[in-house]
Amino acid sequence: MEKTATPTFKHIGSKLLNWYQKNARDLPFRQTKDPYKIWICEIVFQQTRINQGLNHYNNFIKRFPDVKTLAEAEENEVLLYWKGLGYYSRAINIHRAAQQIMNDYHGTFPHEYEEILKLKGVGKYTAAAVSSICFDGKIPAVDGNFYRVLSRIFADDFDISNSRAFNYFSELAHLILPDNVGDFNQAMMDLGSEICKPKNPLCGECPLHEDCLAFSLNKISEFPVKTKKVKAEDLSLKYYFVHRNGKFLIQQRKDDFIWKKLFEFPPVISDELISFIKSVKTVNHKLTHKNLSIEIFNVEVDSEDIWKDFIAENNFIVTDVEGSHERSFPKPLENYIQNYDTAYRIL
Ligand code: ADE
Repeated sequence: MEKTATPTFKHIGSKLLNWYQKNARDLPFRQTKDPYKIWICEIVFQQTRINQGLNHYNNFIKRFPDVKTLAEAEENEVLLYWKGLGYYSRAINIHRAAQQIMNDYHGTFPHEYEEILKLKGVGKYTAAAVSSICFDGKIPAVDGNFYRVLSRIFADDFDISNSRAFNYFSELAHLILPDNVGDFNQAMMDLGSEICKPKNPLCGECPLHEDCLAFSLNKISEFPVKTKKVKAEDLSLKYYFVHRNGKFLIQQRKDDFIWKKLFEFPPVISDELISFIKSVKTVNHKLTHKNLSIEIFNVEVDSEDIWKDFIAENNFIVTDVEGSHERSFPKPLENYIQNYDTAYRIL
């Protein structure tokens, strides 16, 4: 019986590795194979651009250089080091996972993909990245970059909003996977963010343009295919910026609906305080799946007694602009505080 030759695409992976050896971005976490540092960098840079997160990453590693230091830290300090990065549940999970490594793995970062995957906040992408970069694991770290690069190379119209997309593109990645999967994964990250960009990709500079079917068909802009758009939900919130003589009131959020564990202004006030409302400002803020419209009422309390009662009844924390720098707030509240100037006015 005649055999049909299976097409091989391994040369694509090799070309990408050659390109990476010459063009890899010089990033601080590229000088190490310490799984702790690689894990932190993967979590930081999964949702944050390299330029935006690099200082945070460096400061975080300086303060928490290893699993033990992180596990023993106070959660609020970990949140503080995350200030400005957003998606704060990442920080809470990182902290819990460090404690998990101390308790369940005697402080040694697990080596196996399946074990890494058990850590709090670690998904398939992160587990694949850490295991391949640090322990020579052979699993592609499939993320949006992989979807984009692979769908273009193969002019593949598989819908990336389909729930099977992850498995589909993982299999496709195996067709081009070289031996050195750690470098391959990082090469895909660099190619995806520097060359094979979502908009205006630099195909002329791409090491894979000769192998790219979408490029040869002049159809780059048609890939990847994405049909379903997750519709953001509209949500209204109210906050009361209750202040007196330069001090204002805050509390720590408990529910994990949004902004878990971040600090916020009182969301309700007592009847006595209503007469102290001076103005209201509406700010719009987008989260990944929510469009927030936030009304912030400026409540300047002229009565010492009412001020004290309100604090005592609700256990609020009294702080000022300087003190607020020690805590993490949702971005729109942070901006509001910055506009509260030393003359105790809302600017
Ligand atoms: N983004 C997330 N992880 C990365 C890595 N290891 N290299 C480059 N970009 C990244």
